[in-house]
Amino acid sequence: MGFPAAFLDEIRSRLSLVAEIGRQVKLTRKGREHIGLCPFHNEKTPSFTVNEEKSFYHCFGCGAHGDVITYAMQAQHLSFPEAVERLAEQAGLQVPEQVPEERERAKHEASLHDALEVACVFFQRELRGPTGHEALDYLRRRGLDEQTLGRFRLGYAPDSRGALRAALKSQGIPEALSIEAGLLIVPEGRTEPYDRFRGRVIFPITDRRGRVIAFGGRILGEGQPKYLNSPDTPLFHKGEVLYGLAQAREAAIKAGTVILCEGYMDVIALHRAGFAHAVAPLGTALTEQQLGLLWRLAPEPILCLDGDAAGQRALHKAALRALPLLKPGNSVRFATIPPPEDPDSLIRNAGPAAFQTVLDQAQPLSEMLWQWEWAERPTDTPERRAAFETALFSLVDSIQDRTVQDQYRRYFRSRLWESFRPVRPVYHRGQTKGRRHSVDRGPDGRLPGLSRPNPYPNAGGAEEQLLLMVIVHPALLEEVAERLGHLQFTDSSLDKLRQEVLKHLDGWAGLDSEGVRRHLSACGLTQILDRLLEARAHDRIAYLQPGAPLDGVRGLWDHVFNLYTRKDIGAELRWAEQQAGAAMSDETFAYLNALWSSMTRGEDS
Ligand code: UTP
Ligand code: MN
Repeated sequence: MGFPAAFLDEIRSRLSLVAEIGRQVKLTRKGREHIGLCPFHNEKTPSFTVNEEKSFYHCFGCGAHGDVITYAMQAQHLSFPEAVERLAEQAGLQVPEQVPEERERAKHEASLHDALEVACVFFQRELRGPTGHEALDYLRRRGLDEQTLGRFRLGYAPDSRGALRAALKSQGIPEALSIEAGLLIVPEGRTEPYDRFRGRVIFPITDRRGRVIAFGGRILGEGQPKYLNSPDTPLFHKGEVLYGLAQAREAAIKAGTVILCEGYMDVIALHRAGFAHAVAPLGTALTEQQLGLLWRLAPEPILCLDGDAAGQRALHKAALRALPLLKPGNSVRFATIPPPEDPDSLIRNAGPAAFQTVLDQAQPLSEMLWQWEWAERPTDTPERRAAFETALFSLVDSIQDRTVQDQYRRYFRSRLWESFRPVRPVYHRGQTKGRRHSVDRGPDGRLPGLSRPNPYPNAGGAEEQLLLMVIVHPALLEEVAERLGHLQFTDSSLDKLRQEVLKHLDGWAGLDSEGVRRHLSACGLTQILDRLLEARAHDRIAYLQPGAPLDGVRGLWDHVFNLYTRKDIGAELRWAEQQAGAAMSDETFAYLNALWSSMTRGEDS
């Protein structure tokens, strides 16, 4: 899509760079230049300069550099043609259609858009009509309100072979166009076209600007195939589109990040729950183009796939796809939903806070690669360690950007060193030399924890949830007490509550949630308890209702715990060694030994 150079120059000369940038950045004149705080990185003293005469900006802090077009691309997260179109409009210029073929193509695409728009309106109207009852009930049962139905323009395709066909015809849309747009199907060897979508809830798929380019249709209830999508058309290339992008754009720019989930319903549920920066691919593995779209919105999109095996495989695949494309500052993060939930059901069952916890615990790509490779094979002999190392570095080799590749190599080297260097044998005070204290793993196969603050930021949400679940479901306490006992919460008043809760291990056996709350109030903990119960709007969280199935609650507790305590062996080791250098307690001793033996044994998985 080339624009003539003269046209681009015309845009540059008609628009004032200082005025364009000045809408967003406070600029002060200094000689020939204007200076201000750089909009592309965080700074306190201005290093961002704008030179109106020469029509460029330059930041001495982060190196951002360009003209009015690149500015629009960077500041408004637009593609080049989008930026050009928008600026041309602002400058009162007509975008030239250079060659006749291009003009023809644009015209043809416009008529395809028209056909799809007519279909979209038809489906929306059908959802409100007499045949749409069942579908509307279905969507309402799944928690969609009017606003959401409108925002995503959901519709219904009646169970008929010719209803849409007739509607398109009545609007003067040529049949050939409807076929090309993927709305009608012509069976081979016959001429009579019929409606592609029949008896399905319709999810319109739009481009970045919100124009309808395709549809997804979900069957009502059970049945196969669950979703039917439009075929690829001149407007729609499945692998180049993200569902919900138009609706998510603004929120993503505001949030500084974007969430990638698996499906239509996840995107919609997330929007409803206040995570409007969510998008999804269309049932296929993440493509290079889709990663490009995500990166245009935010430097580190969060890939949030279901915790089941398929979801994890998809995450791994996405990681491999992202590696060659990494750029300084550009990466992906990984969040995992506790199985068997998906974002939609997690929010329904456990509330938005549970999903926020999942996001807060998102892991960087480097960490995930390490963990995946680590889980892949034992590392208890030099040869196996060498295989582990080789696998890691062959991943690093696939990174194209030299600087990023170099950083990865250093990072893994230092981590390998941390993990495999010999640990000085440590002896316990008063213990016979040479006899090693043996430390068993807990029942879940993990190392025994130590009382120390959790190193991850945003731990507060997880801490609240771990406590709330126990307070509302005292029957859980016995099972989780040991693990809860090994933690030390970063929030000191929550930690006080945690200790108090643990004191009642025996006393709570017969109590219900009400009794437990009375009990805690009697211990002078009313204030923190109230804060806890209110803060998380627990009335909306199914798992925090007294009647919730204990199995589900247990699953969520385990998951939050695992996220909260996810251990980085290298960091653990550094920490433990520091402790050993300072004052050696029994605990530290046991901990060092456990680490030591886990390392020589290799992680059993
Ligand atoms: P899911 O099966 O997870 O669907 O497929 P979902 O979005 O959670 O829908 P509900 O909650 O069951 O209603 C994830 C995505 O994979 C694609 C769709 O894009 C879907 O949103 N898919 C799935 C298909 O294209 N075809 C199918 O038959 C199934
Ligand atoms: Mn779902």
